[in-house]
Amino acid sequence: MIPSQLIEDIRNKADIVKVVSEYVALKKRGKNYLGSCPFHSEKDPSFTVSPEKQIFHCFGCGEGGNAFAFLMKIENIGFIEAVEELGSKVNVAVPKTINRGPSKNDKDKYFQIMSLAAKHFADNLESPAAKAVQEYLKQRNISDTTIKQFGLGFALPGWDNLFKYLVAKGAAPENIVKAGLILRRENSSGYYDRFRNRLIFPIANHRGQVVAFGGRTLGEDNPKYLNSPDTPIYHKGETLFGLNLTKNEIKKSRTAVLVEGNFDLITPFQAGVSNIVASMGTALTVSQCKLLARHCDTIVLAFDADIAGGIAAERSVELMRSQGLKVKVASLTGGKDPDEIINKHGAQTFNKILDSSLPFLEFKIKRIFSRYNLNEIEARAKAFREVAAVLSQAKDSFVQNEYAKLAARELKTTPENIMAEVKRLGHYQGAKSKNLRRITAKPSSKVLEAEKSIITLASQDTGALATVKEKLSVEDFNSLEAKAIAGLMLTVDFEDSSKLGHFLLDNLPDEAAKKQLAALLVSDHLPRDRKDEILDDCITVLKNARVMAKIEDIKQKIKAAEAAGESQKAAELLSALKSEIS
Ligand code: CTP
Ligand code: MN
Repeated sequence: MIPSQLIEDIRNKADIVKVVSEYVALKKRGKNYLGSCPFHSEKDPSFTVSPEKQIFHCFGCGEGGNAFAFLMKIENIGFIEAVEELGSKVNVAVPKTINRGPSKNDKDKYFQIMSLAAKHFADNLESPAAKAVQEYLKQRNISDTTIKQFGLGFALPGWDNLFKYLVAKGAAPENIVKAGLILRRENSSGYYDRFRNRLIFPIANHRGQVVAFGGRTLGEDNPKYLNSPDTPIYHKGETLFGLNLTKNEIKKSRTAVLVEGNFDLITPFQAGVSNIVASMGTALTVSQCKLLARHCDTIVLAFDADIAGGIAAERSVELMRSQGLKVKVASLTGGKDPDEIINKHGAQTFNKILDSSLPFLEFKIKRIFSRYNLNEIEARAKAFREVAAVLSQAKDSFVQNEYAKLAARELKTTPENIMAEVKRLGHYQGAKSKNLRRITAKPSSKVLEAEKSIITLASQDTGALATVKEKLSVEDFNSLEAKAIAGLMLTVDFEDSSKLGHFLLDNLPDEAAKKQLAALLVSDHLPRDRKDEILDDCITVLKNARVMAKIEDIKQKIKAAEAAGESQKAAELLSALKSEIS
């Protein structure tokens, strides 16, 4: 572990405003700075940085923390790497320590190996051995410029060409294994290349560093595409193919065209569609959706026209919508995927298809219609129910009404009929969630406010912390976040108030708790001249709430005991209740 003194030192020298400014344009607003949140898409800036507290917090998405947390989030790195990175920014060297997962240094080794491999593959493509691949690329209309832009390459047919090349360049075999490029032989000593006789697509991270490869077979053998495994520098579920080249255009247009395949990205890109990314065949992960939401607000799905594509789309769509992205769906016709459509019918046709993409709800409704013969009453009845179910998920009543009008025509009914069914479904869903709420009785907002104030005060002032330690225990706190913060706060000893909050931010085990604490610190407006009084009031509120909850609990038990005829037990409970009240 890095000594805490060193972490302190780095934190004291660093300025969060400077750190954040490298990624976000900030404007001074009062004593804070304001900018557009890099972690979610927003129109009105709600991303706040407090130089006084050295903390950031987004009032839009709830993300927050100190400079380390910011670097971890934006660079997708671990705490230790964030300390190293910030350390190097303020000229404090972090000594290499043992036993701490892939360090920045190890990662650099893998990056270097991947970059050497990319060069090897690219060079191979120009060798006479690559004649067939060159032909293949020509036949798929990929230009030399495009080959260069994407760094396309060729893995030679032999067993260990890349291995030998990398070893000759000084790479250690165990590192090449960890980078995912070679595998250990099972029955004899030695290693062999993962990628052999394949067209190679380098996959880069958002900084443009090669982190993985995809390799397409040139014949019919399986699998058609072979990809790098996850490695210390490559997490498939967090990467999107092409984004390093297209992110600026995506940001500018606030829209990303999402395709499945490698060629479905490259061919349209070559034809001028430059706001495009590829998922590389699998359903999107939450991380990938978040990544997209950081760059744009609308996604145009251009997935393969087959049924699998349709299903993959639905699952991915829900995820994207949950990240606040607007989703439109393009209906691919005239070819099975974007690559085929452009090669058969030209870029103009593909652009037209993109332009006529439909908002997800409309797409879904049209799909329902296409599955039924709407001349039959029974079929219309089924479609009617399915359409209403889709609409009941829409949150906006204007949108519901508009689509009800649209659907009414096809279903030969009135919009009012559809809306009645939508409302019926909505009531049912509403009732379900209301029941849920009743079961998990929430502490009152007064109690929640009180515990927030206590945390705000005690995490910035060791005097207040001492009072809280003396008077409260973790059980007095109610929300999960408050319990997590209190759990740590009540066990630490600190002399210097100014370090307390940051210590907590760095050491809380729970993400939600960290965000909550950052939010509290940034929005702290508690008057300092009245802090003792406020603290006392809030402590009383929590203590009373706990006693009330206990009394309520005993009352319930007495009722149950009486109902069951257990008079002895009821009497015992009653005396417990009396001692609680006195
Ligand atoms: N894929 C993969 N592994 C496979 C098959 C596919 O990783 N065994 C990924 C690739 O990124 C591929 C995408 O899924 O591009 C879509 O697969 P598919 O539609 O089968 O291939 P195409 O992209 O159409 O490939 P091509 O045009 O080269 O035939
Ligand atoms: Mn294809």
